[in-house]
Amino acid sequence: MNKSTSPASATATASAAATSRGDDKVKRVALVTGGTAGIGAASAEALRGAGFLVAVSYGHNHAAADEFSTRTGIPVFSWNVADLQSCSDGVARVQDALGPIDVLVNNAGITHDTVLHKMTAEQWHEVIDVDLTGCFNMCRVLIEGMRDRHYGRIVNISSVNGQSGQAGQTNYAAAKAGMIGFTKSLALEAASRNITVNAIAPGYTDTGMVTVVKPEVMAHILEGVPTHRLATAAEIARCVVFLAAEESGFMTGITLSINGGKYMV
Ligand code: CAA
Repeated sequence: MNKSTSPASATATASAAATSRGDDKVKRVALVTGGTAGIGAASAEALRGAGFLVAVSYGHNHAAADEFSTRTGIPVFSWNVADLQSCSDGVARVQDALGPIDVLVNNAGITHDTVLHKMTAEQWHEVIDVDLTGCFNMCRVLIEGMRDRHYGRIVNISSVNGQSGQAGQTNYAAAKAGMIGFTKSLALEAASRNITVNAIAPGYTDTGMVTVVKPEVMAHILEGVPTHRLATAAEIARCVVFLAAEESGFMTGITLSINGGKYMV
């Protein structure tokens, strides 16, 4: 057995592929990176609900991935998005199992929050490598196939903090702002091949990422959100499905802000 694919994944892959072959219309294949928890997991489930054949990638948490795959039946594959060769190998495994990838959701991301005068070079580079270079790596691996097939939907999960800035997040905000410029540039390059490239900028969302923020700091942040609550991951996921749809082909290069009114652009 491939060590990077969980047992639950192997079963789910076989049954998902069978479902695909049984359909009159071949299902579009969607890949969500960092897809076993939070916004990624909600997006994977929402895409599956919308009729896509879905796979997710994850980093190291095999137990969480097995739990996700067992619960949802969505196949899971492990690789490091920060490493180009790892992305290339991982995508090959997904495409062997499910077929060519039509929809890419670049969701994998990490934070190492601290003020700049305390930030180490490692904290800077790890966040840039996963959040921004990971987006490059995945797009670089998939873009040629999408160009050849004249079809693609790429959705990059940025952040409100890449738009507004956030104390303690020079690394993360730089990466997420970088994703927006990347999105616009690739959208220009890919438009003639029926490939759309869009970003979503979620506000503070009820996922594991916000649980590391001290409660008193989080309470202060929520005072600045007009809706006075966190987003749910499902609220972000429905916008992923919208941008992933074939019918959204005239929308490209945009950043869709979903932040409860915290930052209006
Ligand atoms: N505005 C301006 N300055 C701030 C500040 C703020 N909101 N918060 C802290 N600072 C300053 C302090 O004034 C202090 O400066 P001085 O030394 O000059 O007085 C300095 O930062 C350090 O303050 P602390 O000793 O309190 O710092 P800390 O190291 O304990 O924590 C922090 C600082 C990391 C910024 C912390 O306040 C924090 O976690 N803030 C929230 C970060 C955040 O929003 N993360 C988002 C996570 S969710 C996510 O990322 C998903 C998404 O896309 C939205």
